[in-house]
Amino acid sequence: MRQTKIDEFLELEHHNKELEKRIKEEVAKNREKDKLMFQQAKLASLGEMLGNISHQWRQPLMEINSLFLPIEAKISLGGTLEKEEILEAIDKLNHITRYMSNTIDDFKNFFATDKEKIKFKLLEQINSTINIISGGLKVNNIKLDIIMNKNPELIGYKNDYSQVLINIINNSKDALVERKIENPYIKISIFQEDENIITTVEDNAGGIKVEPIDKIFEPFFTYQKANGSGIGLFMSKLIIENNMNGKLTVKNSSKGAFFKISIPKN
Ligand SMILES: Nc1ncnc2c1ncn2[C@@H]1O[C@H](COP(=O)(O)OP(=O)(O)OP(=O)(O)O)[C@@H](O)[C@H]1O
Ligand SMILES: [Mg+2]
Repeated sequence: MRQTKIDEFLELEHHNKELEKRIKEEVAKNREKDKLMFQQAKLASLGEMLGNISHQWRQPLMEINSLFLPIEAKISLGGTLEKEEILEAIDKLNHITRYMSNTIDDFKNFFATDKEKIKFKLLEQINSTINIISGGLKVNNIKLDIIMNKNPELIGYKNDYSQVLINIINNSKDALVERKIENPYIKISIFQEDENIITTVEDNAGGIKVEPIDKIFEPFFTYQKANGSGIGLFMSKLIIENNMNGKLTVKNSSKGAFFKISIPKN
């Protein structure tokens, strides 16, 4: 009698161990799937990103085009050229090409996957994120405001943080354009609340017309969009809440959508 009890116990113990192992394996598999999906979503946005860059480059390319026009004119008219004039043009050229090269660097960094958590300054990360997408906002006349009175540091995956910002901003842009909003704007605010660093993103596109509103975080949930895949916000929530121990929430304000990213300082 006693022996069978022990046997039963041992068998149960064995079962538990097996189960634990299987759960661990499944969790690991799921992580891999998430990663793959992240990468796919990034690739899917590649076309849009390239469009942004080409907008971003149009202006400086035009500047380069016209930079040497006065000098060329002077030469062909046989006028005298000051050395300073040429040096100034060269200086401007260097400045413009540096700007163009930075845009490409930001773009390249964005597509690299984060391997480890690092300390990063929020404003710099936001600036390089904006650098990637501002072209697309500008052509749609969308005003972008960044309000911050401090430049906090965060420890985490900085490209993932950028990805979340881009997902949220792109959604705002989509809604603002689709609904033909007058004087469209997106406002980003950064501040500290208790031990958390908060980033809020709000727009004046009229708000999210989904009930309950949290449905927008479900995988493949897309609403009133021609080409929506419904991954953007699902992925954003995973990044903030699973990878960065933070919180991503949404509500409607009187003007539009209001997203809040909260990440613990340490
Ligand atoms: N700022 C916003 N204003 C209005 N509706 C919004 C806003 N942000 C999100 N939504 C709604 O939430 C839905 C889900 O957004 P989500 O980013 O997850 O998917 P998507 O934009 O449809 O597709 P994608 O995977 O290409 O991002 C959107 O389809 C849209 O209806
Ligand atoms: Mg989206």
